[in-house]
Order: sequence, then structure tokens, then C-alpha cells
Amino acid sequence: MRAPVLTLEAQDLHIHYGTIRAVAGVSFRVAAGSLVALLGANGAGKSSIIRAVAGLVPPTAGRILLNGREIQGLPPHEIVRLGVAVCPEGRRVFRHLTVTENLLLGGWVRQRREQEETLAHIFGLFPRLAERRRQRAGTLSGGEQQMLALGRALMSRPGVLLLDEPSLGLAPLLVREVFRVVARLREAGVTLLLVEQNAAVALELADYAYILENGRLALEGPGKDLLSNDHLRRAYLGEAPEEKTLPPG
Ligand SMILES: Nc1ncnc2c1ncn2[C@@H]1O[C@H](COP(=O)(O)OP(=O)(O)O)[C@@H](O)[C@H]1O
Ligand SMILES: [Mg+2]
Repeated sequence: MRAPVLTLEAQDLHIHYGTIRAVAGVSFRVAAGSLVALLGANGAGKSSIIRAVAGLVPPTAGRILLNGREIQGLPPHEIVRLGVAVCPEGRRVFRHLTVTENLLLGGWVRQRREQEETLAHIFGLFPRLAERRRQRAGTLSGGEQQMLALGRALMSRPGVLLLDEPSLGLAPLLVREVFRVVARLREAGVTLLLVEQNAAVALELADYAYILENGRLALEGPGKDLLSNDHLRRAYLGEAPEEKTLPPG
């Protein structure tokens, strides 16, 4: 059904945009078949890491390994062929193409017959996309476009899927829908790196999580352990520190 399940690792990754340093020495590991969350505030460097793994920005130093094989510096299409797919931040569907056309573009690495099988599988996973298969992507709602971006990434039958803020800007009902699909992918054994602002939900699902601050790792651990970490609750889950109330009078 898909590329073999893959382990993704980064070792001492550095990423710059000109003189701007976005990521400064980050290491992480996503074991085959696990779901790892990468969390952090805006500008922490999450998308830069996703882009580096996908080959869209070259890291200035460090290694990226897929089942132990170095992939940093390879062009994006070769990284896709090795089994890595990205569902990018902000969805980026082709607005003037239909739902089916968008999905087929995601399946370019696969043979025609495999593409048709995968298309049927994805329409099963997202019935709303099936109903709208001939509709132009630009006319879909935000939530439907997110489903389409997810479906398109799945069309290559990836061994590792990188999800960059899939729930951003969606209504609560659709956020739940997105996470339902993420949970199903995880049950199906796809290796998942999930970037999220929605820290609470991501930590519930994640086997392991890394917290990024200003391009460096600030905290890491099993998802459920981080959920009960006080520092993290205050910084990322929007909880105020316990107030010391003064006695009345
Ligand atoms: N194309 C770019 N050119 C210059 N600076 C960038 C570019 N993309 C990101 N940055 C900078 O790199 C840092 C990390 O950004 P990013 O990886 O997008 O963070 P996040 O996804 O966690 O919000 C930020 O300071 C951001 O301004
Ligand atoms: Mg980002």
C-alpha cells in the first residue's frame, strides 16, 4: 500500500536564511511507525525544520537521516521518491484544479494503477472530497482544503509524513476531523512528524514530543509526560500560574 515505514532522524541541524539563524543545533528522532510532535511558538523554527527534511531549504550544518541514510542536500523530488511527503503550512492546494487533479499531482511517483487504488482509498478516508471530486479546489472551504492537502500528501503513499500545522485556522469541529485522520494514519503505521500550535491535542496523541524555542530544543519527552509539565502548561497551553490570593480584609 505504501513505501516501507521509515525512521527519520536529525542530528545537530542548523538552518539559516542569509544571516538570519532559524534553527541552531536541533536533534530529534521519529522512530518508524511513531507519532512525534514538534511544538513551539511562532517563529521557533518548526516550518524551517520541515522544509529542511523535505529538501526545500538546505541546512547549513547537520545531518538528516532516513533509515540511517543521509538525505540532506538531496533535491525535493528525490526525497519524495525515498518515501517522505509533506502537508505544508497554509494548505497550498492548486485552486484552479479539481479535487481529483490535485490528488493525482500528489501521486506522481506512483504508477497509474497504484494511483487509482490510492485515490479510491483517500476518497474512503475523506468522503467530503469524494462528493466534491470534480469541484475546483479554490471553491472548497478551509477545512475541505486541509483535507485535500492531507490527501494529496498521502497520494505518494509515504513512509514518513510531515504535517505542518494541519489544524491552523480551522473551526473546532474540523480540528477534531483532522486529528481523527492523524490518529488513523498512526494506527495504519505511517511515521508522523506533527508540527502544531494546538499543543494539548498534539501531546495527547504523540508518542514523543520536542518543544522548540528560538531555534533550539527547550524540552523533550513522552507526550503524556509533557502534558503534566508545569512550565509547558504555562508557556504553551495558555494556563496562568496559580494565583496566590491574599486573605480578605
Ligand atoms: N524565507 C525566509 N527568509 C528569512 N527568514 C525566514 C524565512 N522563513 C522563516 N524565516 C525566519 O526563521 C525563523 C523561523 O521561522 P519558521 O521556521 O517559519 O518558524 P515556525 O514555523 O516555528 O513559526 C523566524 O525568525 C522567521 O522569521
Ligand atoms: Mg510554521
